[in-house]
Amino acid sequence: MESLKEKILQLKKEKNAVILAHYYQQPEIQEIADYVGDSLGLSQEAEKANAAIIVFAGVHFMAETAKLLNPKKKVLLPDLAAGCSLAESCPPDIFKKFIDAHPNHIVITYVNCSAEIKALSHLVCTSSNAEKIVNSVPENIPIIFAPDKNLGNYINQKTGRKMLLWDGSCVVHEAFSLDKLIALHKEHPDAAIIAHPESETHILETASYIGSTSGMIDYVKQSPKTKFIVATEAGILYKMQEEVPDKILIPAPSIEDNTCACSECAYMKLNTLRKVYDCLLHEAPEIKVPKKIADKAIIPIKRMLDLSK
Ligand code: 13P
Ligand code: SF4
Repeated sequence: MESLKEKILQLKKEKNAVILAHYYQQPEIQEIADYVGDSLGLSQEAEKANAAIIVFAGVHFMAETAKLLNPKKKVLLPDLAAGCSLAESCPPDIFKKFIDAHPNHIVITYVNCSAEIKALSHLVCTSSNAEKIVNSVPENIPIIFAPDKNLGNYINQKTGRKMLLWDGSCVVHEAFSLDKLIALHKEHPDAAIIAHPESETHILETASYIGSTSGMIDYVKQSPKTKFIVATEAGILYKMQEEVPDKILIPAPSIEDNTCACSECAYMKLNTLRKVYDCLLHEAPEIKVPKKIADKAIIPIKRMLDLSK
């Protein structure tokens, strides 16, 4: 009997579909994906995808960005409830008032936000190009940065800017425990701590490397070190371990969890292999963006991609 994976691969061929997956997806989804990457890589792949259907194994804002970049394709998200705490922290009506209260500011938004928010922005960035995007704005022009205050703080520190920050955060990256991390590092003093910039400042201060999910994988590959404590969503460990089979990867501990020392994004984990199959079979749920919003939202995304070449 055909396995679910085989059925998906067959259906993918029949329907001329491509599967794009984020590193935080379950390993079995990453295994059947045509491309696995970080938010920037996934946007670039979505833009150039030739297939008729893009199955986006990630969260809503990612699938929406894919739709904006390649509007003629049918973009499917296996579970429509796969949201993001950062995107949810930034309601468009309140954000619009915030912008209006701070005229003359350039608005830079982290890609983890809705299309409505992108439509209110001058520039979009991801964790891998945030510094470059911020540096593209002349120093005398004030900036509003949303929705991630932790990434914003980190970029403020790196660039010396004083960007005005929206008060949003990622529930997963805010759950890392500094005390437990320090205790774990004492047990493994030879390990390098690496962290995603959505983490809080006190976690970032302990890290030898800070970067996007792809950046973290590249770092571990080229580092002479053989042991790493990894402060990001635990799904990354699958691909990272594949890339460095002989190195030791230890997930950074989170505050609440005493049994499993790892952080998982409940939104990312809503997608399952069964849902990938069902969405491909029924060609639903489909991501659609109203034209009025899409026409505006695509502008800052394209600017970001041009600046990232
Ligand atoms: P990157 O993969 O772009 O680093 O983003 C991490 C993330 O939290 C996606 O939601
Ligand atoms: Fe959003 Fe955090 Fe989940 Fe990424 S890990 S999708 S930022 S809640």
